[in-house]
Amino acid sequence: MDPDHDSRFKNHMTKNVKKILTDALEALQKAEDAAVVQEVFRAYAGRKGALRLLLQEMKSLPEDKRRAFGKEVNDALGVLEEAIEHKLVSLGGVPDMKQKPIDVTLPASRRAHGRPGLHILTVVRREIEEIFRSMGFSVAVGPEVEDAHHNFDALNIPADHPARDLWDTFWLENKDGHHTPGALLMRTHTSPVQVRYMEASQPPFRIIAPGEVYRYEATDASHEFQFGQIEGLMVDRRDSSHPVTMHTLLSVLTQFFERFFKKTIALRVRPSYFPFVEPGIEVDMSCVLCDGTGTVSGRQGLPAGRQGCSLCSQTGWLEMLGAGMVHPNVFKAVGYNPEELQGFAFGFGIDRLANLKYGVPDVRLYRSGDLRFLESFRT
Ligand code: DAH
Repeated sequence: MDPDHDSRFKNHMTKNVKKILTDALEALQKAEDAAVVQEVFRAYAGRKGALRLLLQEMKSLPEDKRRAFGKEVNDALGVLEEAIEHKLVSLGGVPDMKQKPIDVTLPASRRAHGRPGLHILTVVRREIEEIFRSMGFSVAVGPEVEDAHHNFDALNIPADHPARDLWDTFWLENKDGHHTPGALLMRTHTSPVQVRYMEASQPPFRIIAPGEVYRYEATDASHEFQFGQIEGLMVDRRDSSHPVTMHTLLSVLTQFFERFFKKTIALRVRPSYFPFVEPGIEVDMSCVLCDGTGTVSGRQGLPAGRQGCSLCSQTGWLEMLGAGMVHPNVFKAVGYNPEELQGFAFGFGIDRLANLKYGVPDVRLYRSGDLRFLESFRT
């Protein structure tokens, strides 16, 4: 081959490389999804692609030209591969070219962020709210960081009163790092919301106040240092055509429990002491498992006949809540005239109610963040 022929041939080849690269880049620019990009790769840079075939043709070049031409083709391949990578990034994915085409329109694999749906305690709280709303109660809220006045004093629990020890308290330090008695605390119950509500409104009213409360105490299966409570408060004038009495209280509670547990229940009242009510009572509910009988029918594999009910320790009753008629001193603390007004208050734990309804054996599970527990509820 004469040298002239060599250089013409080389020029022809060089033109070819340029043309192929331009075509490839054009096709790439038009590509709208990864599958088309993949095709461009195959047609030009793949094992049988146009550029690679040129490398095979190289054998027909004189030896001293091969190097330069090889470099040219490789450069073109480099340019094309880089362009393909950029294109794929702009389309949202960089698949391995040796794999089969990747469909970037497929939905991404799902990552768990907690769980879909509401926490079981939220579901229970909302259900409680709904039942009370239907009985004309509105929902009030108050702060979880409380002052001693609302959490204790206004509720007829003065600083030097032994009743304060009924609530083991998380006191908060003030700015100087000291904790002054009477300063701020994590509310130990939802009763301070009664005080805050009465300070801002005039009877008649009926409210419930749901929320988290905190106790500085050891935990076990039935005690947590944080749990949910629902406070109830209903007040009217004594001379109203329907004064609020202990009977009103028990009717409201019976309605509530029957609708919450969806079965007929009985209530039992025992005298008790809470500083903010007089008289104070504790209310028991007929056991939702054995319906107050203290026994359940024998399970398979156990001797026939009835067995002792484990939920109520065979008493037939479950302790549910504290309640009573609002103490005159509480009315006085919010500027009401106790001579003119009368009302009831009650307070119970949401966690315990959820335990009974859903058979949860340990209150510590609720706030453990354990997904196995949380996902066991289909809410
Ligand atoms: N605040 C009480 C507690 O945590 C519960 C309670 C009892 C609330 C009697 C009331 C009530 O309103 O009348 O332990």
